[in-house]
Amino acid sequence: MNRLVVVGVQWGDEGKGKMTDYLAQNSDVVVRYQGGNNAGHTIAFDGQKYALQSIPSGIFNPKIKNVMANGMVINPQAALQELEKLNSMGIRDYKLFVSDRAAVIMPYHIALDGAYEASKGDNMIGTTKKGIGPAYTDKYARIGIRIGDLLDREYFAQRLKDALVVKNMELKMLGLQTMEFEPLFEEYLAYGQQLKPCICDTSILLYNEVKKDSKILFEGAQGVMLCIEHGTYPFVTSSSPSTISVPLGTGIPPKYIDHSLGICKAYNTRVGAGAFPTELDGDLAHYIRERGHEYGTVTGRPRRVGFLDTVALRHSCRISGIDSLAIMLFDVLSGIKELKICTHYELDGEIIDYIPSTLSAYSRCKPIFVTMLTWEQDITNIRKFDDLPEEAKLYLYKIEQLAETKISHISVGPDRLQTIER
Ligand code: IMP
Repeated sequence: MNRLVVVGVQWGDEGKGKMTDYLAQNSDVVVRYQGGNNAGHTIAFDGQKYALQSIPSGIFNPKIKNVMANGMVINPQAALQELEKLNSMGIRDYKLFVSDRAAVIMPYHIALDGAYEASKGDNMIGTTKKGIGPAYTDKYARIGIRIGDLLDREYFAQRLKDALVVKNMELKMLGLQTMEFEPLFEEYLAYGQQLKPCICDTSILLYNEVKKDSKILFEGAQGVMLCIEHGTYPFVTSSSPSTISVPLGTGIPPKYIDHSLGICKAYNTRVGAGAFPTELDGDLAHYIRERGHEYGTVTGRPRRVGFLDTVALRHSCRISGIDSLAIMLFDVLSGIKELKICTHYELDGEIIDYIPSTLSAYSRCKPIFVTMLTWEQDITNIRKFDDLPEEAKLYLYKIEQLAETKISHISVGPDRLQTIER
């Protein structure tokens, strides 16, 4: 279990921050391997709440090495602001390493993210507008700037000049303000200098940690259903949050990964647009949203809520090779009047057990539910599985049966201590 991947198995916001923080206590290294500051990992301890966006969740422990690996897209300005905020909250003693190969999110990526969304009208994805998609696009178009580039004045100047030729054409085409080389160059050069002590080839660092048999926690952002390859395309993010992207996003080969822990809410939520077969509205949705504080950490948007979807869960567990599940926000279901789990979909009169590849077919999928028994009891102070109400245990057993995966952790509140281990 020394190399553990924590991965969201829904549409993000499963509570990965809490579990990563919980598990980070026993880790030597915590690694972010994809995504950027579109993530919002909320961590609560000692009565304080911290919201992390691009900084790994091990940052609170001075002994842990925190790595922002090559698979990430990093907004240096936002990352430095995050560190400043942590600093103002008393978090000053930490170890942070930033990959010289990670992609840089530039201001034109943020402008383009907004413009692409606006151009889609009713079909907008509902991105976080942090420039994630456009930054990954440039990486794959090979006109991206990488963190290491910021340390080499001449090389960076050339890379930025080349990128601006294309980017300014795009900005102009979309009716946006073009960007001048000089101020952008000086600003990002300065960020490079500020980050310089942290910048290195993180694949070497991680390889050395593997050789020492250190405990490494790979911290996924978003969720498998938002995966660019295996998610509900095109309403997805632009990276792969799955376990299978850890090797590519870090430089650590698959053979070194020991365990994938799938983080799964006891129900489903989704922010942004896209089909959501088990979505609820009315009083029940309101009940869950308010009890679960289901509002985006990054954007503050109210999250869409629904009953647990195990077609999506099985898909994610299969794609990500999930070894065990952590069921999060389980306490939110106490007192609920109606409780169901989706087992299959009905698509055009046929019962199916897979995620269709097109959005048009996915939008036609209707959930098939089993109805579960409910419980009234507040479970936030329970620390042992056996002490849970019988109905709550039945709900968990049903998830295990439908997901074909064991549950190893159950979270009954936001604090580190409100965790049941099995
Ligand atoms: P982007 O990652 O900002 O490009 O947004 C693409 C889609 O992923 C949108 O539907 C976002 O709401 C969603 N998304 C991105 N990051 C997160 C996250 O951390 N939690 C939940 N949804 C996210």
